[in-house]
Order: sequence, then C-alpha cells, then structure tokens
Amino acid sequence: DFTHELKGLNELEDRLQEIFDLERAIVVPGDVDEDPLVLKDIGKAAARFLESIITRGNIIAVTGGSTVGAVANALSPINDNTDIVVLPARGGMGRNVEHQSNVIASIFAKKLGGQYRLLHIPDQLRAESMETLLNEPDIKSVIDNLKNADILIYGIGRAQDMMQRRNFTPQQQRDLERRGAVAEAFGYFFNAKGEIVYACNSIWLKMDNLKRIPKVIAVAGGRQKAQAIMAVFKHWRKGILVTDEGAAREIIRLA
Ligand code: G3H
Repeated sequence: DFTHELKGLNELEDRLQEIFDLERAIVVPGDVDEDPLVLKDIGKAAARFLESIITRGNIIAVTGGSTVGAVANALSPINDNTDIVVLPARGGMGRNVEHQSNVIASIFAKKLGGQYRLLHIPDQLRAESMETLLNEPDIKSVIDNLKNADILIYGIGRAQDMMQRRNFTPQQQRDLERRGAVAEAFGYFFNAKGEIVYACNSIWLKMDNLKRIPKVIAVAGGRQKAQAIMAVFKHWRKGILVTDEGAAREIIRLA
C-alpha cells in the first residue's frame, strides 16, 4: 500500500529477495528491538500471508517462540471445519509456557478451524531416551505427519539467547561459542557461514525432512537478529521471510 511504498519497504523486500534468493520477503515498518509492538505487526503480516496460501486439509508445522506466537494471535478465526492439522515442530522451551510450540499449535488450530496434535517430550533429553520415545506409536504417528507438512512457520533466534532459554550449561555455551554459533532455528545451531555446528537431541524434524516442506515461512525481526537471520538463510536459501525494517536494513548493510 501507499505507506509501504513511502517508507521504501518495497525496495527492502526486493533487496532481501535478491540476497537470499527468497520466494518472498515481507518487511514491516519499525524495529522490534526499539518497539516491542512491532512484534505484533510481524505477526499480522505473516498471518495475512499464511491465510492467503492455506488450503483445506493442509498440515501446518509450527515452532515455538514469541514471534510465531504473535502469528498465532494475529490469525483471524475461521468458524468452519477446515480439516487443517497443526503440529508442534519443536519441544518445550524454558519455563515460558505460552511460547512453547505445543501451545502455539493449539492456538493456530483453534483459529484455523482445524485440529492439533501435541508432543509431550521434554527438551533436554539424552539421545538414548529420545530414541526410545520416538519409537512410541503415538509419538511416531505425529512425527510421521510432521514429515508430510505442507507449511512450516518457524522463528529464528540468536544463538546466545537460545542457549540461555534452553538452559544450556556454561560448558555447553562456551563450546558452542567456540564453534562460532550465531543462530538457532528448529533446534539447529548455525555459524555465520550457515553451517550447522550443533543439533539438539530434541529435534523431530531433521534437516532433510525440513527441506522437503513446500512452504517455509520464517518470522524474525529486530536489528540484533540480522546476523542470525543471515546465517539461517545462507544454510538453505529457501522460502519466505517476514521481518521488520530494523533487521532488513542491517542485513542489507552486512550483505
Ligand atoms: O528458535 C528461535 C526462537 O523460536 C525465536 O524465538 O521469536 O521468541 O525470538 P523468539
């Protein structure tokens, strides 16, 4: 629209699309680091985009975090059975229940007139325990559905923040810093080149499966997340990015 053009946001979107070879970039005005209300606008923009591509019977996978939470809150309720199934793509995160992907999946499903499945798996399991759980029939069926997701909506975090949120030990944090981790998304940590430097035990959707999902929508804003966003898109140059002006300008400056 007019204000969008006036602020040069279209140009920012075009630049981002070029830099990462994106299917689509959407930039909202402002910077979430300076004004927390911008998070709502990122949520609204992503919700409108999602509503424009969603069809009956879709399987939608969602990760956790406040930004994906903002998308859930911004969705307009559909009072109809849409046969949409919403699945959590990630485990719980720290103590903030409303930012867990299970909870976010349930809000998405209620808004979209669909159903949700929950995965009750703690985040910091040892690899062996995880292996056992993944073979439980109930859990296996959700994971198999996840692999068939049509749409994934995910957040991107700065490695430092995510290590703290996920209660990594100081030793683990130092180790990941040494490996150059700058970003986290869907349980993977990436260095600035976009290489995976660490994968959490609690990953249900492995990178191969993630890469097969036809529509992937990243939601992340704030100038401070620029480097993290770049790292993730260096890894897979795929999909749609919904961000804010603060992150967009910083990405373009650094690129
Ligand atoms: O994996 C990254 C997180 O989902 C980002 O969380 O949206 O609360 O910053 P956030």
